[in-house]
Formats: sequence, structure tokens, C-alpha cells
Amino acid sequence: MSHNAHCLILPYPIQGHINPMLQFSKRLQSKNVKITIAATKFFLKTMQELSTPVSIEAISDGYDDGGIGQAESFAAYITRFKEVGSNTLSQLIETLTTRGYPVNCIVYDPFLPWAVEVAKKYGLASAAFFTQSCAVDNIYYHVHNGVLKLPPTEVDEEISIPGLVTIESSDVPSFVSTPESARALEMLVNQFSNLENIDWVLINSFYELEKEVIDWMSKLYPIKTIGPTIPSIYLDKRLPDDKEYGLSIFKPMTNECPNWLNHQPISSVVYVSFGSLTKLEPEQMEELAWGLKSSNKNFLWVVRSTEESKLPNNFLEELASEKGLVVSWCLQLQVLEHKSIGCFLTHCGWNSTLEAISLGVPMVAMPQWSDQPTNAKLVEDVWGMGVRAKQDEKGILRREVIEECIRRVMEEEKGKIITENAKKWKELARKAVDEGGSSDRNIEEFVSKLVTISY
Ligand code: UDX
Repeated sequence: MSHNAHCLILPYPIQGHINPMLQFSKRLQSKNVKITIAATKFFLKTMQELSTPVSIEAISDGYDDGGIGQAESFAAYITRFKEVGSNTLSQLIETLTTRGYPVNCIVYDPFLPWAVEVAKKYGLASAAFFTQSCAVDNIYYHVHNGVLKLPPTEVDEEISIPGLVTIESSDVPSFVSTPESARALEMLVNQFSNLENIDWVLINSFYELEKEVIDWMSKLYPIKTIGPTIPSIYLDKRLPDDKEYGLSIFKPMTNECPNWLNHQPISSVVYVSFGSLTKLEPEQMEELAWGLKSSNKNFLWVVRSTEESKLPNNFLEELASEKGLVVSWCLQLQVLEHKSIGCFLTHCGWNSTLEAISLGVPMVAMPQWSDQPTNAKLVEDVWGMGVRAKQDEKGILRREVIEECIRRVMEEEKGKIITENAKKWKELARKAVDEGGSSDRNIEEFVSKLVTISY
């Protein structure tokens, strides 16, 4: 079959970054663009679930046996990834050409800005794919251009950034507010280092959700929002032949969740998940367990196997079997879509946040690190889709606070307003990706331009 163009997709090898790029790839493929995903050898080795409709080829980050865990430091990982990654990505481009599939464009995660140099070497177009919200990207941009000087000196210092509501220092991404994260911040700030030389800046968000900040950033870069990158099987309009595909380092417990949820009343269940990376302190895990118990709600809690030992003694045997189900991983969208879900207690990773918005699920925000505090601020104060649970001075969220937040969202007057807002955002998210919607138009424009440069 002949294709309009060929995109090489280069994700940063973590679950939360692969997911949106895979979904975007599927959309491009449905528009007759050939896709090859370049994933690191180690990431491919850790896959528990590997069924995708797109081709995957291996490159190397220089740590084929252990990925970042094998590197002596984060800085060493990034440096070696640049060196080995540039070479192996170049080799892949040459191999694909030899096989008769020349690449036209590299769509890369801006955590790996060196991909632009590889693209230039071969005369290819390039597109940065930002997997986080435009608001968060804008904060990193302001650190990059030197306007935002952090860490803040006062706890509640107010920060004004064009395109954003006023935020406090506790709302900025953790890499900005904690000086120990200097290396990670350097990488995040470097996302902007090559943007002058590229063709598109794609953002996994949608215009209606982040209008002001998108308008502001569009003055600087050729921004195109293309989200939410939610699989079409969860939208009203499905792509032909789409089904639940997985590129996952965890094996989902597929049947347990829907079987259990089918027996719960409508809007009665609290779904609890902290994504693929976050590790909770044992004390926090205990507070969460008792907070869930005292809320007296049914709950479905994703506790990754590496976190399980932190659950209170007898929790699984006694409490969880009475009121809840604890699983090590699930198909989160399948769960969020279920009519029995009443609220999502989430760490506010950007994928989880966008998935809750797209499926209209009210949130209790329990941000831990990275971009999560900013996302939580937006969820509560800008989109009115949830409440943010506040930690104590030790950084722990206490059981009473958790219980109260769940009740506010699921029982009280405020919860009704949140539910109404959730319905509104769900509608807008769907319209954005539906034919003629803001993100759909952007994807169409991207593909049309790609086709013209491919000939
Ligand atoms: C990381 C960062 O922590 C996050 O803040 C950043 O925005 C993206 O990268 P992660 O912590 O894994 O990601 O969270 P999130 O962005 O929410 O992504 C998790 C993904 O895993 C979601 O797509 C979610 O649907 C999926 N998931 C989670 C499952 O499929 N099953 C589960 O049981 C839990």
C-alpha cells in the first residue's frame, strides 16, 4: 500500500510519554501516513503488552540492559542517550530508506531535542510533540527565557505568567520549585533549545481547554494542539478497525475490573491511581487506605506490585475485600468510562487528567511531583472539575482530608457543579477531535503539509 508520507516517531521511553505518541500515531496512520516508532531496546524489553497497529523499531539509549536505572546519574543518561541515540536513529533512517520507506518527518519528544539535528542531517521535516499541558510548557518556557526566577523565596509567592491565571509557588512544577531537581529542570528547559529550527510544535491538549495560553505561545512557535489523544474506541466516532492496543510496561488485569464494576451502583466508585512512576511514602499509603475506608465508598485502587508492600497489614484480606478491589494495573480508560465511577482520585499526571476530562469524570487531585501541581491547580480553579487535597506541613495528605475531598466531590452541592463542568468539558474534548473540531483541523493541516513536502 502506498502512503502519503512517512513519520518516524521518537518518544522519551516512559509510559506517560509513549501513550499519547502512540495514539497520535494511530490517528496519522488512519490518514494514510506511514508510522515507525523508534523505541529504545530496553523499553522494548520491558514491554508486557505489545500489540500495536504501527511498526516499531529499536534504537539505543546506550543502556540496553537497564535503561535509566543503569546510568550513574540522570545527567549521564541524557548525555549518553544523545550520543548513542543520534547514531542509532540515523542508522534507522538509512535502513528504512534502503528498505524502500524513506522518512519525511521526525516527530520527537522535546526531552530529546537532538532529534532536530538528525532531521536536518537528512533534510527531513521535524515536529516537537509536547506530552504535557500548554500551561506547564509555558512555565518551562519562562524559566528558559530567564523571566521566571525560581525557586521562590516565599511559600505563597504569587507568580504572574502571560497566558496563565495567577499561580502560587506551590502550583509550579516540582522541578522548578525544588533546587535538587536542577538536572531534570535543565532537560525540561532544553525542550525549547531547538524550536526555532523546526516545522511544528504539537501539543497534547485542545484549544478550548487552554485558549489563552495557546494563543500566547502561538505568537512564539508554530503551535498545533492535537489532543486529547484518546483512543477512538472511547469516542463517539471510532477510527475504522480501531481496538484497544497496548504498548505497556505493565500487564493490565483486563477482566477483573469490568466484572467488579458491573456490580456497583451508578457513580458510586472512587477510582484511585497514581500513574506509572509515582512512589508514595509508606505513611502516605496508610493515610490513603484509611481515608478510603472512612469515606465509606467502594473503591478500585491501582497499586503497582512495587508499591504493594506499603499497604497496611491485612488491608487486602479485610478491608479491600469488603469495599474495594485492588489491582496492579488496569485499562484505565475502560475503568474511567464505566458508569459506576463517581470520582477519580488522581496524581494529576497529564494523561490521567486529560483522560478524566475526555470521559467527564470529576477528580480529587492529589499531585505528587513533576507537572502534577500545576495540573491540579487548573483542574480545581480553572476548569472546575475537581478539588485539590491539601498536604500537611510534612507533605502528607491526611486521611480526614482525603475523606472530606471525596465527600465534597461525590455528595455535596459543590460536587453537583463539578459534575456539570465535567459534562461540559467532556463534550468540548470530543468536539475538538471530532471531524472539523479544533484538533482534527490541526491534524488535517499537519498531514496536508506533510504530504506536500513529501514529494
Ligand atoms: C508521567 C508524569 O508523572 C506525568 O506527570 C506527566 O504528565 C507524564 O509522564 P505518569 O506518572 O505515568 O506519567 O502519569 P500519567 O501522565 O497520568 O500517565 C499514566 C498513563 O498510564 C495513562 O495514560 C493511564 O491511562 C495509564 N494507566 C495508568 C493505565 O493504563 N492503567 C493503570 O492502571 C494506570
